[in-house]
Amino acid sequence: MAAYDLSINGQTKRVEADADMPLLWAVRDLVGLTGTKYGCGLAQCGACTILMDGVPIRSCVTTVSAATGRQLTTIEGLEGKVGTAIKSAWQDLSVPQCGYCQSGQILAATALLTQKPQPTDQDIDTAMAGNICRCGTYADIRRAIHKAADLVKRS
Ligand code: FES
Ligand code: FES
Repeated sequence: MAAYDLSINGQTKRVEADADMPLLWAVRDLVGLTGTKYGCGLAQCGACTILMDGVPIRSCVTTVSAATGRQLTTIEGLEGKVGTAIKSAWQDLSVPQCGYCQSGQILAATALLTQKPQPTDQDIDTAMAGNICRCGTYADIRRAIHKAADLVKRS
């Protein structure tokens, strides 16, 4: 066990953990941010997606030690022009069904829109392909990303 300083949502959180502890456990169990979900533990579903320096990563297969010194954003800390537009569009279109996959979907969508302000359907399908939704909200997610893109453009 060692101490690691994690920069999460603009705050530094010190955790005591083994170097190879998955970041997901540190975020959920040690820091107490439970919006990030465990799905497969194998980088296959996207439920555990968080942003590391703005890039979506699978926190179930990222170690605490690898996350030290990086800027981490979880669903609880998502803000800014793009993040706010994504959350607003998600809410307006009532995208979530059971909700389990949605924090990962929202963070992946935020990264996409930050990189590509006016994504095509193909861009969206490609960027979101690693985020599985058992409730089948894919069409609504696509609509919400387009809506968020318009919101950002008009802001
Ligand atoms: S829990 Fe990490 S990708 Fe499924
Ligand atoms: S909303 Fe239920 S898994 Fe996506």
